[in-house]
Amino acid sequence: MDTPTPYRYEQLAELIVGMIDNGALAPGVRLPSVRTVSEQHRISISTALQAYRLLEDRGILVARPQSGFYVAAARRGALALPSASRPRAKASTVSISGAVAALLEHASNAGLVPLGCAVPDAELLQSKRLDMALARAARQHGTRYNIYCAPQGEPRLRREIARRAMGIGHALSPDDVLVTSGCTEALTLALSAVAKRGDAIAIESPTYFGFLHTIEMLGLKAFELPTDPTRGVDVDALARLLDMEPVAACLLSSNFNNPLGCAMAETDKRSLLALLARHDVPLIEDDVYGDVYFGRERPKPFIALDGGANTIYCSSFSKSLAPGYRVGWIVAGAYAQRVMERKLAFSLCGAVLPQVALAAFLESGAYDTHLRTIRRLFEENLARMTRTIETSFPAGTKVSRPAGGFALWLELPRRFDSRMLFDEALEHGICFAPGDVFSASRRFRNCLRLSAGHAWNDRIDDGVRRLGQLAQIQLGR
Ligand SMILES: Cc1ncc(COP(=O)(O)O)c(C=O)c1O
Repeated sequence: MDTPTPYRYEQLAELIVGMIDNGALAPGVRLPSVRTVSEQHRISISTALQAYRLLEDRGILVARPQSGFYVAAARRGALALPSASRPRAKASTVSISGAVAALLEHASNAGLVPLGCAVPDAELLQSKRLDMALARAARQHGTRYNIYCAPQGEPRLRREIARRAMGIGHALSPDDVLVTSGCTEALTLALSAVAKRGDAIAIESPTYFGFLHTIEMLGLKAFELPTDPTRGVDVDALARLLDMEPVAACLLSSNFNNPLGCAMAETDKRSLLALLARHDVPLIEDDVYGDVYFGRERPKPFIALDGGANTIYCSSFSKSLAPGYRVGWIVAGAYAQRVMERKLAFSLCGAVLPQVALAAFLESGAYDTHLRTIRRLFEENLARMTRTIETSFPAGTKVSRPAGGFALWLELPRRFDSRMLFDEALEHGICFAPGDVFSASRRFRNCLRLSAGHAWNDRIDDGVRRLGQLAQIQLGR
């Protein structure tokens, strides 16, 4: 497939990134004004501004009101970015369930320093307000809700979900939304609706281990796609794959990849959608981190770009508001009937009270204020964690620069073994996620993911520092 010609603003953005990478533009340096840049490059002011905003969204520049754009200092530290992955173009049978179960058992142990599980700390969420909403719903209508609700889910909640989708450019009716038990059930419904045993699914590499687990449990195979730590999947590589192999669906966590924290550029998303449509391959989109962005605007999900023509959208409130409520949703478009049949077979319907409480919370208008708070907090956490990594991890450590979410992906020298570090870290009371669980073919053994979903404190700082020291010791042996 021909690579689409980058827009002028993307060319300018690439040029600036190149100048930052080769040291011509140092952290903290102020960039020329948009007017100057537009004159120098003979482009319009709005094109220059678009380039700056793109880099701001990626955390590479920061805007200071009344002053201009600066090269971000905190997030562009001394450490390089992890390498782009280059997995082999062969479908893997997945065998990850044991490793995932062991990780989740440790990650939910409150006695360990919590760097393992990518779940926000309940203390940072609106737990008290949700408690009150839940108590109110139970007090007022508890008996009425002690029934099977409609399989689509509580209408008030579906209305709120549809209203929020409008805000990100996707016109949705409440009837398009099916409430699920977290994003996990939404993904299971989507995958089982589009693929049968033995089929292959194209995924990012690295990817969220839950995808791999579900793929394994459904008897599917995985094609791992080359993935860049800031741009996401390589659309050309997907094109080559689709020319050669049958692929039942593509499953992407586009805003933002777990564990890399990157979002694909909108032009790449559009190319990918056009490519999949040509090959008649559905896209399953996981947008569970979409509200936790650090840029100026929420990156558009795929479904807002193709109007849902070929996209099955899955999300939940787990990363931003209420992981314990287990409320997610799916918008399945042409696959809605198949998804509904599976929903009825797998779980009939969801629990009503948590849905009513969430609907009441969303109706109150408090969600956006809450999101603004946690976005700032997670971004600060990631910057602090990066600084601690810079001073304590071995030379040659590379670290991601997330544009959203609350996890960092670290790549250490090739001979480093994150499984060995995992066992040692547990003995020191620290949990993290070893790299190989993020790959169907168990790559990334020299990588690891650290979660920054808890309020920063000395215990977490010491945990990260200790991990760095243990990694130094391992590499010095
Ligand atoms: C990309 C991604 N999707 C889905 C989930 C699970 O979502 P839920 O808790 O809503 O089932 C996670 C949890 O880590 C995740 O990282």
